[in-house]
Amino acid sequence: MVSYKELGLSNTKDMFRKAFEGGYAVPAYNFNNMEQIQAIITACVETGSPVILQVSSGARKYANPTLLRWMGQGAVEMMKEIAKAKGVKEIPVALHLDHGDTFELAKSCIESGFSSVMIDGSHHSYEKNVELTRQVVDFAHKYDVTVEGELGVLSGIEDDVVAAHSVYTQPDQVEDFVKKTGVDSLAISIGTSHGAYKFKPAQCTKDPKTGVLVPPPLRFDILEEIERRIPGFPIVLHGASSVATEYVDMINSFGGKLEAAVGIPEEQLRRAAKSAVCKINIDSDGRLAMTALIRKTFAENPGEFDPRKYLGPARDALVKVYKQKNEKVLGSAGRV
Ligand code: G3H
Ligand code: 13P
Ligand code: ZN
Repeated sequence: MVSYKELGLSNTKDMFRKAFEGGYAVPAYNFNNMEQIQAIITACVETGSPVILQVSSGARKYANPTLLRWMGQGAVEMMKEIAKAKGVKEIPVALHLDHGDTFELAKSCIESGFSSVMIDGSHHSYEKNVELTRQVVDFAHKYDVTVEGELGVLSGIEDDVVAAHSVYTQPDQVEDFVKKTGVDSLAISIGTSHGAYKFKPAQCTKDPKTGVLVPPPLRFDILEEIERRIPGFPIVLHGASSVATEYVDMINSFGGKLEAAVGIPEEQLRRAAKSAVCKINIDSDGRLAMTALIRKTFAENPGEFDPRKYLGPARDALVKVYKQKNEKVLGSAGRV
């Protein structure tokens, strides 16, 4: 058993308390490799933002669970080094399991040094979700590890408009869920979803000037009702990438094929960040920026075969993306 405290990591308790009081959201960026973690830490130290480093079970399999935990520790050391060199403040860093689906996975992460875990029982029945989440909370809290639960289903909202009523989080369940499970934060479903295709073109209107697809607004009415039911409780928004046309167009102009990709407009995320939403999850926007720069580099330098020459520009683009999120969207810059 390695405690996250020995690794210099933080749980999310203080982060969320400050975010709630300050009216901003803490960024939760996914990583699978070295360039992503370098970019996340660099951007967050330079903007003075707390950060949650997120690892999915897929990322864990891809990178190797042992290596990932050392990368988490390495991230803290790198953060300290950059802060010292630049004469700026150190930032709190959490290492978080994203979409954990079993007790065993959550336990294994906690034992290897994660400071926070998500147990996503949203695909189970309500009763089973409560039971699984409670089991993880009981174990995690023994080690002061924070737990995120989920109510409502994100995927599928864009697939079936008729099913929308049943997949959005039902506000009348949240109070009971929080009380019975003891979770520290709650992910909800109010119209976001994972990936780069969050809405079908038929659900969107077209901006007459730019031709850009504008999706329907998030269900802030549901969020407000949830806030009334569990006042002061930290809410998490998954599936919050904006899918910037800048990178989608770059991918398409250098041989890619992303058609009708649509994300969540930044102004809606800014509004969410000012509310009880204390954590905003972003993965796809980083994937798009990396892919765009790699495609561009290959197209312009077909003879290039040094990974540093194409992963380097991709990493620079990631730093730019994360800084912009912290400063202009989540409001987390300058909060440490
Ligand atoms: O919510 C999902 C994250 O974007 C992680 O995706 O399971 O492909 O690593 P992944
Ligand atoms: P995006 O696919 O919108 O980036 O969402 C990521 C996420 O929610 C990770 O849990
Ligand atoms: Zn998610």
